Amino acid sequence: MSAQFPAARPRRLRRTPAMRRLVTGVWLHPEQLILPVFVKEGIAEPQPVASMPGVVQHTRDSLRKAAHEAAAAGVGGIMIFGVPEEKDAFGSAADDPDGITQAALRDVVAEVGDALVVGADTCLDEVTDHGHCGVLTDSGEVDNDATLERYAAMAVAQARAGSQLVAPSGMMDGQVRAIRRALDAAGFANVPIMAYSVKYASGFYGPFRDAVETPKNFGDRKAYQQDPAGPVGEALREVRLDLDEGADIVMVKPALAYLDILRQVRDAVDVPVAAYQVSGEYAMIEAAAANGWIDRERAIMESLVAIRRAGADMILTYWATEVARRL
Ligand code: PBG
Repeated sequence: MSAQFPAARPRRLRRTPAMRRLVTGVWLHPEQLILPVFVKEGIAEPQPVASMPGVVQHTRDSLRKAAHEAAAAGVGGIMIFGVPEEKDAFGSAADDPDGITQAALRDVVAEVGDALVVGADTCLDEVTDHGHCGVLTDSGEVDNDATLERYAAMAVAQARAGSQLVAPSGMMDGQVRAIRRALDAAGFANVPIMAYSVKYASGFYGPFRDAVETPKNFGDRKAYQQDPAGPVGEALREVRLDLDEGADIVMVKPALAYLDILRQVRDAVDVPVAAYQVSGEYAMIEAAAANGWIDRERAIMESLVAIRRAGADMILTYWATEVARRL
């Protein structure tokens, strides 16, 4: 035997499936996955979302079925995005007790009860005719403080409809505090807030715009979402502010392009951290797989493991039910 034979042989632990399983360091469990779902008011059949193959805008009925399937697969949560038939500048559907999100919340809670956590997106872009996450001033800017009042009313309407978690995603300053106060005052002190604390103005949200029918000419969200090349420290600042305001869970979004930020946040806080594998991340893998360019299942699992390894305690992913079944 040569004097330089490798004494250390990491490959010893990789040789067989059983050995690899024994030394697994990053685990994915169904209950760590949250399924985002779209539900459209007034449609008779589920509508495919063209840029998200396999994802649909649900009818209220098909959503109940999807929620049931997610629960049966052991998925940890479901996040509802309601798309109303009529949108207006104020986002009236947001806090209408009969608005589509509230109706869907009641349906899903009736269907799955406590089998998984039922939550809703607490943001106006799905319900405004201009497509922005807030109400606008006369000059067309998003009015931060007027929007807070809408979010507060929206969160209370969602809680009244049975939401077990509210998730403000609009990146208005002070949104967590405004929602916490309103929930507490309305008797919902036990409803937690999953704050989209770190949210970048990302090109990876493109397909989501199809899913919630954002108007084509709406522009962008760069004046309220973070710049991908923004100030160092901004992510932690946003997280700190949200924790001060009462956030129970903080989120980083998108996931794959911001794994460094996810790790920073995980190391800095003592609350659970969520990551959102967004529509564009989904679409990229689906499109490449449809072309036969990558192995779909391997790429899905690898991306989720990467997000877990970077520190996510839970992951919002459109593949939640499928992956939960496979685990
Ligand atoms: C805002 C919201 C968006 C997404 C989730 N919540 C759009 C945005 O922030 O611009 C995107 C999710 C995705 O792309 O999958 N309500």
